Amino acid sequence: MPRSARLVPPAVLLALALTLTACDGSQEGSQDGGRHGGRDGSEGAPGLGDPYFPKAGNGGYDVSHYGLTLAYTPDGDRLTGTAVITARATEDLSAFDLDLAGMEVEKVTVGGRAAEYDRDGQELTVRPPDTLTEGEAFETEVRYSGSPRAITDPDGSKEGWLRTADGALALGEPTGSMAWFPGNHHPSDKASYDVEVTVPKGLTAVSNGELKSERTTADGRRTFTWHTAEPMASYAATLAIGRYTLTRTSTKDGLPVYVAVDPTQTAASRKVLARLPEAMEWAEYNFGPYPFSSTGAIVDRPGDAGYALETQNRPFYPGAPDLVTLVHETAHQWFGDSVTPKSWQDMWLNEGFATYAEWLWTEDEGGATAEQTFTTLYDHGEDEYKDLWSFPPAKPATAAHISDTPVYQRGAMVIHRIRQTVGDDTFYDLVQGWAAAHRHANADTAAFTAYVEKAAPDADFDEIWSDWLYGEGKPPRRP
Ligand code: TRP
Ligand code: ZN
Repeated sequence: MPRSARLVPPAVLLALALTLTACDGSQEGSQDGGRHGGRDGSEGAPGLGDPYFPKAGNGGYDVSHYGLTLAYTPDGDRLTGTAVITARATEDLSAFDLDLAGMEVEKVTVGGRAAEYDRDGQELTVRPPDTLTEGEAFETEVRYSGSPRAITDPDGSKEGWLRTADGALALGEPTGSMAWFPGNHHPSDKASYDVEVTVPKGLTAVSNGELKSERTTADGRRTFTWHTAEPMASYAATLAIGRYTLTRTSTKDGLPVYVAVDPTQTAASRKVLARLPEAMEWAEYNFGPYPFSSTGAIVDRPGDAGYALETQNRPFYPGAPDLVTLVHETAHQWFGDSVTPKSWQDMWLNEGFATYAEWLWTEDEGGATAEQTFTTLYDHGEDEYKDLWSFPPAKPATAAHISDTPVYQRGAMVIHRIRQTVGDDTFYDLVQGWAAAHRHANADTAAFTAYVEKAAPDADFDEIWSDWLYGEGKPPRRP
């Protein structure tokens, strides 16, 4: 199937981007309504009021950079860390919270001066020596140590800090990253990162971004320094420590490719990893320019985690992935990592697009067309997925359901209904335009539907939004 108009003229992109910014800023800024009782008016809210994870993130400031200096010893499972968090106050602050689950806090400074702090569950409340004023940039340093914990998600899956046969693994969707560093752990506050990790001799530490240095300490340990320049949501941050074979190659375009493979997975993953450059080219052709400055993969042992994850730059795979999973996680670099949900309610924008990428790839490989996949799901989807029609993609039932079938499969069906409505040329303009308009930023479902309507002003999307995106139950067959 020809898809000619993949490249959107810059003028169109700019026009679309401007339209979007205009109707997109409603949720920015501080929300007084989020403050809990017992705090005075200048204390930042302990959560951002996410509809699914209300305590995630914190009010009153925006982080621009995390500088993490970590040392980890698998023997004894001990992590020591210093987090330097650069942020700007969005209101006057006599106190503000960071999210940190477990670990012991040893010292907190703000602007280089000791700050008082206390802890209550995942909230680390910091009282700077002087009130911060709205607009002020400030640096918080937290020294901490301990055995980081695994976090059990509402759906029963494990994230946070996971012990592995030869080290440890940090996975953060949706709230796991607070297990290994303090921060504003909500997808709406993205930041750049520098992560320096020292591990015992013989082990490798892999994180996001590019490897800036690798050196040996005076006592023979190894220090790996990773730099992530593009904004990253904390759930997409990762750290994998183990006996990985780390290789750095580059694509034809000169993009660095860092691939870390557990030696037990080398043979099984060789073929699929060799197709990563092809998957990247395919994704760029369909979705527009790749948003980051390196790519790659982390392939660990199958038992080390229960799922793959779109960790930024280099997705995590528990064992050699199949090609379609590689395509899914690659697509997430555009949808999820670059264009990040404003809240966990917008999860279908990640999984709907990543699942739809699987359908498109399958179609391009000569398998079922996306239209066939859609029709089969509509007619017989419940045979494979009992819960396919159990809730609408844009309104997951509860936090335990944000990664259920309706978010993935029915989310992809929404995308396909849009393609059916606008035709291929407009559809690919729209997909690329969406990725470009919110590149390195956040977006919610309302911004998406507004964007689609602007991109195809003559089409009628009411039934797609009301029945497919927000409506309960199986949408009626269209005439
Ligand atoms: N986002 C992952 C994927 O589709 C799946 C996943 C892993 C997930 N952990 C999660 C989804 C936690 C929601 C919440 O590749
Ligand atoms: Zn996914």
